[in-house]
Amino acid sequence: MIEMNKIVKIGIIGLGQIGIYLYNELNIKKKEIEKKTGKRIKIVAISAKNKNKKRRFKFSKKIFYKNPLQIFKNENIDILFECVGLSDGISKKVVETALKNKINVITPNKALIAKHGDYLAKLAEKNNVCLEFEASVAGGIPIVRTIKEGLATNKINKVYGILNGTTNYILSEMENNNESFKRVLQKAQKLGYAEPGNPKLDLNGFDAFAKIRILSSLSFNTKISKANCIMEGIENIKLEDIKIASQLGLRVKLLGISEIINNQLFETVHPCLVSKKTYIGNVNGVMNAVITEGKPVGESILQGEGAGPGPTSSSLLSDLFSILRGNIKYPFGIESVKRKKITIFNKNNYKNSLYLRFIVKDKQGVLSSITNRLAKYKISVKRIIQTPDKANKEATIIIITHKTSEINANKCLSIFKNNNNTLKFLTLIRLYN
Ligand SMILES: NC(=O)c1ccc[n+]([C@@H]2O[C@H](COP(=O)([O-])OP(=O)(O)OC[C@H]3O[C@@H](n4cnc5c(N)ncnc54)[C@H](OP(=O)(O)O)[C@@H]3O)[C@@H](O)[C@H]2O)c1
Repeated sequence: MIEMNKIVKIGIIGLGQIGIYLYNELNIKKKEIEKKTGKRIKIVAISAKNKNKKRRFKFSKKIFYKNPLQIFKNENIDILFECVGLSDGISKKVVETALKNKINVITPNKALIAKHGDYLAKLAEKNNVCLEFEASVAGGIPIVRTIKEGLATNKINKVYGILNGTTNYILSEMENNNESFKRVLQKAQKLGYAEPGNPKLDLNGFDAFAKIRILSSLSFNTKISKANCIMEGIENIKLEDIKIASQLGLRVKLLGISEIINNQLFETVHPCLVSKKTYIGNVNGVMNAVITEGKPVGESILQGEGAGPGPTSSSLLSDLFSILRGNIKYPFGIESVKRKKITIFNKNNYKNSLYLRFIVKDKQGVLSSITNRLAKYKISVKRIIQTPDKANKEATIIIITHKTSEINANKCLSIFKNNNNTLKFLTLIRLYN
C-alpha cells in the first residue's frame, strides 16, 4: 500500500507510441490524479533505446536511462510502466526485476502476460505488490477490471469478441470499398492501424490469441493455457468471399472465443461468418468488442477503441488509479495458488457450420458426387449455390453445411482438395452459431 502524503515515484520503460504518450498524459494530468486519488506523482526515470530520437512529445533528458536496469540501482521508484513489448528479453527482465524489488508494475504487454503471466503474478503476490495489465486486452475497453471486479461474483462460461482492430478495419474496408486484402492492408499501414514493417502478428491471429488467453484466465480463474488450439488469421480471406457473404446477409469477422465446454476449456481465434443482424456483426472499423456470458448477470457487452496511444493510455492510467487508491490486489483477481489448471477441450470435436467455396469442372454428376461425399462424412448441406462459367467449362460451388466437427470437416475436405473434378479449393470459413 502506498503511504499517504508521499510523492509516488514513477518510471517508464519504452517511449514508443504508447510510452511517450503516457509520459505526456502523466505530466498534464498530475493535478487531476492528485485530486482523484489523494496522491502526488513524479516521473523520476524514463528509458528507451535511443536518447536522441525525435519523439511525439518533449521529454526530460535529465531522467533518461539508456539501460533500464540501471534505474533500479539509482532510483527508488514505486511504480514502473513497462511499455517496450514482446514476451521476452528486456521487457520480461525489467518486470521481473521490478517485482523482485517490491515495485508495482503496470504493462500493456499482452505477449508478456499471455506467456509469463502466471509466473509474474506469483512473483507480485510473493513481494506484496501489484501487477496490472488492463491495457493488454482490447486497448481502452476496461474489460480486465470489469471481469476482476464488476463481474467478480458471476460464473462466466464464455467470453468472446473482436480483439484486434487492425483485422477488423481491413475486413470492414474490404466490404465497404470493394477493395482487395492487399490494397486495404497498405492503406491500414499508411494510417498507422497496421505495423508498417511486420503486421503478421495482427493478421495471423497471434495478437488476438494472446488476449483471449488472458481473458480465459481471468474469466474462469484458471492458469493461462498453453494449449495448441485453432488459430487462423485473415490472410486468406478474399474479397469474393466477403461479397458472397454479404449477399447471404453475413459478414466476416475475426473472432476470439473462449468457453467452457463440458468442464473443459476451449480457446480459438479464426475468421467467422456472422449475421449482419447480430451485435457483433455491426462492430466495424478499428473498433473492438468483448462479450461475456455469465450467471446470474447474463450477457454483458463492452465496445470501444482497441488500440492507439489514447485508448491504451486511458487503461494504463486506470491501472495507476487502482494502485494509488487501493490495497494490493491479486493480478488475476484471485490468489495464484487458487487458480486451477484446466483440461483442454479436444479441438477435433469443435462443431460449426461451414462455408465452402471451390471451383469444379462444369460437367454432369460433379455436384452429386460432392454431396454424396459430404453425406459419407455425415456432413449435411444446408444451402448450395452453383454458378457456372460456361466459357471456361467450370463452375463455382458455394456450400453452407449444417454443424459438423473439425475432424469430420478436415477428413472430408482433404479428399475434395485431391479430387480430379476440383480445379481450385478456395475458402473455408466457419459460421458463428
Ligand atoms: N501501439 C498500440 O496501439 C498498443 C495498444 C495496446 C498495447 N500495446 C502494447 O504496448 C507496448 C508498447 O507498444 P508500442 O506500440 O508503444 O511499441 P513501440 O512504438 O515499438 O515502442 C517500443 C519502445 O521500447 C523501446 N525499447 C526497445 N528496446 C529497449 C531497450 N532495450 N531498453 C529500453 N527501451 C527499449 C523503444 O525505444 P526507441 O524508441 O528508442 O526505439 C521504444 O521506445 C507493447 O507491449 C504493445 O503490445 C500497444
